[in-house]
Amino acid sequence: MLYGDRQKTLLEIKSPEQEYFELINKEYSFHDAIKILDKIDWDFKDFKTQYLTHSFHPYPARFIPQIPLSFIKLFTKEGETVLDPMCGCGTTLVEAFLNNRNSIGNDLNPLATLITKVKTTLIDENEFEYFNKKLSVMKRYLDLDYRKVDERINNLPNRKISKIFNRVVISKLESIRETLLEIRDEGHHNLFDFGRVALSSTIWSLIENANGIDVDNIFIKKVKSMQNEINKMSKIINTIPKVKVICGDARKLEIENDSVDLIVTSPPYVNALDYYRVHMYNMLWLGMDFDLFRKHEIGGHSHFIMNRFRLLSEYLGDMLRSMIEMNRVLKRGKLCVIVVGNSSLEYELIESHKFFAEMGKKIGFRLIKTIHRNIDKTRKYTSADIGKIDDEYILVMQKVDNTNISADDDDFVSEVVKEQMIKFREQVKKGPGTSIRGKKPSSERLLKNIDKINEAIETISEDIKIKK
Ligand SMILES: C[S@@+](CC[C@H](N)C(=O)[O-])C[C@H]1O[C@@H](n2cnc3c(N)ncnc32)[C@H](O)[C@@H]1O
Repeated sequence: MLYGDRQKTLLEIKSPEQEYFELINKEYSFHDAIKILDKIDWDFKDFKTQYLTHSFHPYPARFIPQIPLSFIKLFTKEGETVLDPMCGCGTTLVEAFLNNRNSIGNDLNPLATLITKVKTTLIDENEFEYFNKKLSVMKRYLDLDYRKVDERINNLPNRKISKIFNRVVISKLESIRETLLEIRDEGHHNLFDFGRVALSSTIWSLIENANGIDVDNIFIKKVKSMQNEINKMSKIINTIPKVKVICGDARKLEIENDSVDLIVTSPPYVNALDYYRVHMYNMLWLGMDFDLFRKHEIGGHSHFIMNRFRLLSEYLGDMLRSMIEMNRVLKRGKLCVIVVGNSSLEYELIESHKFFAEMGKKIGFRLIKTIHRNIDKTRKYTSADIGKIDDEYILVMQKVDNTNISADDDDFVSEVVKEQMIKFREQVKKGPGTSIRGKKPSSERLLKNIDKINEAIETISEDIKIKK
C-alpha cells in the first residue's frame, strides 16, 4: 500500500463514538429503530460520560448518558416529552435538554431534584458576574468571620454535622451558606440553587477525600468549573425545551394520564444501598428534610433484618406500583425503558429485570427486548461500585394497553407479588445458592432459605402496604 493510501485509510477509520453518533443521528421508523438497538454496543467502553453538566455532582448508581441518549434519539422527536420517574441526578433530563426534548424528572430525594434542576437550567453570564462578586466579598471576610464560629456551631441546621468537621471547616462552610442565603434573599433563586449544588459537592468531596481545610478554594474551583459547563451548554442550545422537576414518590406520580412519549429510568436495586445514608451530611447541611425520603425510599435495606426475602416482596410491590404509574402517564404505543442489575439476597441471585418483565405483562406492557450490558467497574459511583453488580439489563417495554388498575390497589399488588414470590421459591428449590460469590454456605443453610421465602409469602399483604 502506498504511503498516501495508508494515510487515507487511517483517516477513514472512525472511532466507536463517531460510529455510534452516525447510527443514532439518522431517522428511523419505529420498527427499524428497534432493529438499531441490536447494532449498538451497550458497554460504551471508554466513551466520555462526564461532559457538560453531567459532571456537577457525584451520585450513586447513576447510569451513563448514552443509555437515555440512544432511546431519546431513536424513539422521540424534538418537542416531545421524556420522563424519568426516579431521575436521581438527572442524567435522562440532561440528555433530553441537550436534544431539544421536553422532560419531566421525579425523585423522592430532594437533593436529587435540586441537582437535576440545576443541571438543566441555563444562567446568564451577568448573573454569574454578580455571583462571583459575592464570593470575592465572602473570601475577603473569611478570617474575620471565624470569630463567629461558636455562634455558628450552635445555629447549625442539625447538631449531627458538628461532629464530622473541625471548627475551621464548619466556619467556612457556614460563610458559604450564609452568602448563598443572601443571594436568595436578593431574588437570585437560580443562583441560590446553583450555589447549593456546588456547596453540596464540596461537602461530599471533603468527606470522601479528607480534603483538609481548604474549603473556600474547593468551593470556588467547583463554582468556576460549573459556570464553565453552563456557558458551554448555553452556546450549544438554540431553543430551550421545557423541564419540570418534581420531588415526589414514583408510586404516585403527579403527572397527567397519557402525556409522555418515552420513559427511561433506573430504579434502586433491592438490598443495594440506602440512598438517604449516602447523602445524609450534604442534605443536613442544606437543611433538607430526609425523613420522608428515608421512610418511602424503594429498595432501602435497613429493615427486615431477620428475613431478607420480605425485603424482596416489599421491593416488588413498590416497583409494581411504580410501573402501574409509568403505564398510566405514558402514551399508548410508546416505550418504557428500565435499566436494572441483578442483586443478591441470602446467597440467591435476584434477577430484577425478569420480575419486572413478568409484572409488566400484567399491566399493559409488552416486552420488546432485554439488552444485557457489562458495567465498567473502574468508574466510580456506578452500580458496580455501589451494589457489587457487574452487569445490568435494559428492559425495553412498549405500552400496548391502558391499565385500569390503580397503583393503590393493595389486593392486586399482593396477588401479583405472591405469584412472583412463589415462582422464585420454586426456582430456589430447584437450584439453591445461585449467588454464592466465593462463600461456602452448607446445604442446610441454603435449605433454610425455602422456609424464609415461605414465611415472606405469608406476610406479603402486610409487607407491600405503603407506610403511613
Ligand atoms: C439508581 S438511582 C437513579 C439514578 C439516575 N438514573 C441517574 O442517572 O442519576 C435510583 C433513584 O431512585 C430514587 N428513589 C428511591 N425511592 C423512590 C421513590 N419512592 N420515589 C421516587 N424516587 C425514588 C432514589 O432517590 C434514586 O435517586
